[in-house]
Amino acid sequence: MQERIQEILNEAKEKIAQAATPEDVEQLRVGFLGKKGKITDIFKMMGKLDKEEKKTIGPAANKVKNEVDALINEKMAELKEKAKQARFKMESIDVTEPGKGYKVGVKHPLTITMEEVSRIFMSMGYSIAEGPQVETVFNVFDGLNSPPNHPSRDLTDTFYITEDTVLRPHTSSVQVRTLKTKKPPIKVISPGRCFRCDTPDATHSPMFHQIEGLVVDEGITMADLKGTLDSMAKQLFGSNTRTKFRPHHFPFTEPSAEMDVSCFVCGGKGCRVCGGNGWIEILGCGMVHPNVLEVGDIDTEKYTGFAFGMGVERIAMLKYGVSDIRLFYENDKRFIEQFK
Ligand code: PHE
Repeated sequence: MQERIQEILNEAKEKIAQAATPEDVEQLRVGFLGKKGKITDIFKMMGKLDKEEKKTIGPAANKVKNEVDALINEKMAELKEKAKQARFKMESIDVTEPGKGYKVGVKHPLTITMEEVSRIFMSMGYSIAEGPQVETVFNVFDGLNSPPNHPSRDLTDTFYITEDTVLRPHTSSVQVRTLKTKKPPIKVISPGRCFRCDTPDATHSPMFHQIEGLVVDEGITMADLKGTLDSMAKQLFGSNTRTKFRPHHFPFTEPSAEMDVSCFVCGGKGCRVCGGNGWIEILGCGMVHPNVLEVGDIDTEKYTGFAFGMGVERIAMLKYGVSDIRLFYENDKRFIEQFK
């Protein structure tokens, strides 16, 4: 019996030493000290022993029981502490570690261009007007004095959503909206997105941007138009820039013109950017047609106005030397990040 007790003690010591988790230790506690545990069994057998044996086995069994109990408690505490330390280590935050870097985006070159042009006009007292990209046929054509047979009304030129709703082919629709809601003096620009049924190539895109301008007041003349746009061109392309107005036709302006700027690359001598003739066309403009003013019930005897519309992509391509309009829409970060 004495030997058996010693054996149990040795076995317990060995197994407790090997236990790797609190669960292992708990199992050992059950196996040695539980109801059917090996040490408990010794106590159960005591009844069958004679008096003399009881005297020696009793204390010996008790001693082993206490020893195993102590070993188990000690091991349990040790493993729990270990687990706690491991968790602390895992959950701890090193506040001295450098933070995760994050990338700041850049403005799109078209946004930069629109903001630059907007800033120039805002410094001249213009405010910004906005209009929707989905427009009525009235606001893009009829209200702008376009005859019923005008070619840009064709389904092949303009995207129709219904018979009288389109994706606006120009920002001039904002002229009509402004005239219907505001009284002179009017001085607005309107940057925005436009759509035309064009097959994409290096200079065409079915989606593009324009900046519209509209001024209506007493005594506005062609001189105001020329002075304003000349000043804008000098601020945008450099103070040596010259401007030239060529007669043109738009249904909503009379007279109408296209404005060219002297090439800011060669200064007018002729180069690859200006196609050799020293001038670059950048916008359409003219004096607002009285029929358009009448849409806003404006007294055409008292008020006159001018309007203009320029292509944002074209200006950005010229300014930044971009050779293909499609680069603006590919969202290739390597392209876009060059303009920050
Ligand atoms: N809407 C014209 C275009 O898209 C530009 C323009 C605007 C011309 C205003 C005259 C006045 O080509």
